[in-house]
Amino acid sequence: MKIAVFVSGGGTNLQNIIDAVEEGTLPNVEISMVMADRDCYAIERSLDKDIRTYVLDRKTFSEDAEHNLEGEEIDLIVLAGFLTILTPEFTSKWGSKMINIHPALLPKFGGKGMYGAKVHQAVLEAGEKTSGATVHYVTAGVDEGQIICQGTFEIEAGDEVADLQRKVAEVESKIYIQAIKQISEA
Ligand code: GRF
Repeated sequence: MKIAVFVSGGGTNLQNIIDAVEEGTLPNVEISMVMADRDCYAIERSLDKDIRTYVLDRKTFSEDAEHNLEGEEIDLIVLAGFLTILTPEFTSKWGSKMINIHPALLPKFGGKGMYGAKVHQAVLEAGEKTSGATVHYVTAGVDEGQIICQGTFEIEAGDEVADLQRKVAEVESKIYIQAIKQISEA
């Protein structure tokens, strides 16, 4: 299975995928390319492994990405900390072959503007007892696509945004690899 990974940030999820491929946890998976919508650390992780890497303009990302994907026979697009909202044309073409990971338990705490620390802040303010991460297919509605899997953890008294970030990252490192593996074996 050939995958393209879209990134905007630190690239911890990208690194998890790279490691899983190298360690043989994802034996059927090849990372064909990485596309970033801004200058970010994820690009360094990608270049470090000699993966074909593109940095695209946010305003024309969907069109430019589509161009780069032409003729590449990509089986799955993996959004890994990717922040640009893709065009409806792009999501309708790729939606059944495109997944995202969200740092909370959807359908709650999702949607436009819900990313990074804001998500964890909202979870804490709502007084939730648990949080987690969700892997889902991507549709035009932000964070509204079909859920593939979730991982959860308990929120403990005194937990702050940084604690939730750390616990979510741990859950994400497991469930994103599981979801990609499951799709690669289907
Ligand atoms: C995670 O919170 C993930 O859920 C969200 O982006 C964050 C990770 O970014 N979509 P990265 O993989 O470190 O770039």
